[in-house]
Amino acid sequence: MKRTALVTGGSRGIGAAISKELWQKGYTVAVTYAGNDEAAAAFTKETGIKAYKWNVGNYEESAAGIAKVEAEIGPIDIVVANAGITRDAPFHKMTPQQWQEVIDTNLTGVFNTVHPIWPGMRERKFGRVIVISSVNGQKGQFAQVNYAATKAGDLGIVKSLAQEGARAGITANAVCPGYIATEMVMAVPEKVRESIISQIPAGRLGEPEEIARCVAFLASDDAQFINGSTISANGAQFFA
Ligand code: CAA
Repeated sequence: MKRTALVTGGSRGIGAAISKELWQKGYTVAVTYAGNDEAAAAFTKETGIKAYKWNVGNYEESAAGIAKVEAEIGPIDIVVANAGITRDAPFHKMTPQQWQEVIDTNLTGVFNTVHPIWPGMRERKFGRVIVISSVNGQKGQFAQVNYAATKAGDLGIVKSLAQEGARAGITANAVCPGYIATEMVMAVPEKVRESIISQIPAGRLGEPEEIARCVAFLASDDAQFINGSTISANGAQFFA
């Protein structure tokens, strides 16, 4: 049976690698994006994967968008909550707006994405919820009080959903990427980035495809008994 997957923030960075990996594995895939029309159009042109625009931080937009996706490509069996942003600043400089924007996208966005899909998964007795957290949710990070709080919170969501979904054939798991070669990490000042890389025993940034393969495994039927877990893929930077 051909299953359907939705990847939020799926047209760029780690999300794009995940969408492509699932597509190559034979899933029907749709992605969401928040604002970069040009990148989304290029992604769809390259892959043939449909991209839908909405703000995951807004519940009504998410619910309406998900209803549209399900009407167009079928019920969503696998949801990858990947959309995430950074608004880094040392705590004494962090503004309430920087705090709120990150909470809205990275934490509330997971609720808004999974909640409208969940009842259908329960009815069909199958589901895969995969949340992209972060090594920085596990260990904290200088200048990321907001981001680390959301990524740690995402792990709480997954562990709770796992317990609620297990009897209904639904699994919920997290992947915690370390520092991956994406625009987000490349936006870190070069000197800081180099110092971070020097603390990664693997001696390099990860590749988006290395995260995508973790997600594809969690999405597969082989992973049915893995529920409430976290896969850390960080080049031995941190052990949770
Ligand atoms: N540890 C300790 N000290 C640090 C530090 C760190 N990781 N990063 C910066 N500092 C220091 C700076 O050297 C500076 O010290 P001095 O004042 O003595 O020079 C001080 O902290 C901060 O200086 P500023 O007041 O100039 O800071 P700023 O307001 O310009 O902010 C910054 C700079 C936003 C913190 C910038 O350094 C930065 O972006 N740091 C990287 C944060 C980071 O790692 N983000 C991860 C992004 S990738 C991601 O999030 C993906 C994922 O999941 C892994």
